[in-house]
Amino acid sequence: MMVRLRRVTAADVGSARAAAALDDVFREYLVPISFDGPAYALHVAANDVDLAASPIWYDGDEVVAAAVLGVRGRRGWIGGFGVAPAHRRRGLGHALLADVLERAWSLGLVSVTLEVLAENSAARRLYEAAGFTPVRRLIAFGVDATGLQGRAGAPYAEAGPLLGAPEQTGPCWQREAASLRRQPSLHAVGDARAFCIFRHDGRRAQLLNVRADSAEQFAGLAASVVAQTGVVRVELFNEPATSATAAAARTLGWKPLHELDEMRLTR
Ligand SMILES: CC(C)(COP(=O)(O)OP(=O)(O)OC[C@H]1O[C@@H](n2cnc3c(N)ncnc32)[C@H](O)[C@@H]1OP(=O)(O)O)[C@@H](O)C(=O)NCCC(=O)NCCS
Repeated sequence: MMVRLRRVTAADVGSARAAAALDDVFREYLVPISFDGPAYALHVAANDVDLAASPIWYDGDEVVAAAVLGVRGRRGWIGGFGVAPAHRRRGLGHALLADVLERAWSLGLVSVTLEVLAENSAARRLYEAAGFTPVRRLIAFGVDATGLQGRAGAPYAEAGPLLGAPEQTGPCWQREAASLRRQPSLHAVGDARAFCIFRHDGRRAQLLNVRADSAEQFAGLAASVVAQTGVVRVELFNEPATSATAAAARTLGWKPLHELDEMRLTR
């Protein structure tokens, strides 16, 4: 197939087309991912996405490849990366990564991180070929809320002041305080010593920052989230596998949904 690449950035095409491009390159992904307009806007705003450094490649009007680069100070983060199914396995993944890294280094960044699903061997291979190395394992947990009822006790709290509280374990990019501060509606239970910051859509709550000293305390916080929101499911994404929170989740029998590796390349 003859491809004449037109290389632009997300800043050139506007958010609707940039979101659609991400949907196109994440087709047939191991986990369904879809960026509607609001989800893309939140992704960009919360995660400091630099639209002018996020490449999109087209062949005519057809999306061939797209990547998203977030920038915080001199650190970078790849928050979306893919090649459309019809164009895979021809070296474009390697070329797209080289493009993103060139943009990152030309911005003066000193490191770039990303998260990759443990079973995504294609993506892993190309990140490793560029020199990325695994930093730590992350786990995504999900649990049915019915198992959490009956232990509630932590009071409702203001999320804002808790965002400055020290993290137990350094969070991944999307759960750093910089990301959480830009979430439109954050909630919290607990107090400065033991708390849980979360968001929810009425059905599912996503725990975004947890500080708990024991599995029992963690269970109480999660139960308070359920009691106060009426959600049917509670999720905890990209939790460092060695954190106290991950240990508590395991102790309580929470099921891992996915395992990921956080990888980093330092210039
Ligand atoms: C991962 C992805 C970007 C690779 O793109 P690609 O254009 O096919 O990659 P390339 O052709 O440059 O090949 C990259 C490497 O992966 C290998 N590879 C590609 N697809 C593979 C597959 N399905 N199984 C095993 N290896 C595969 C290639 O052999 C190559 O390794 P090599 O250089 O050692 O030979 C593409 O499959 C994709 O977009 N997948 C869906 C989205 C995704 O997973 N994004 C990454 C999120 S972290």
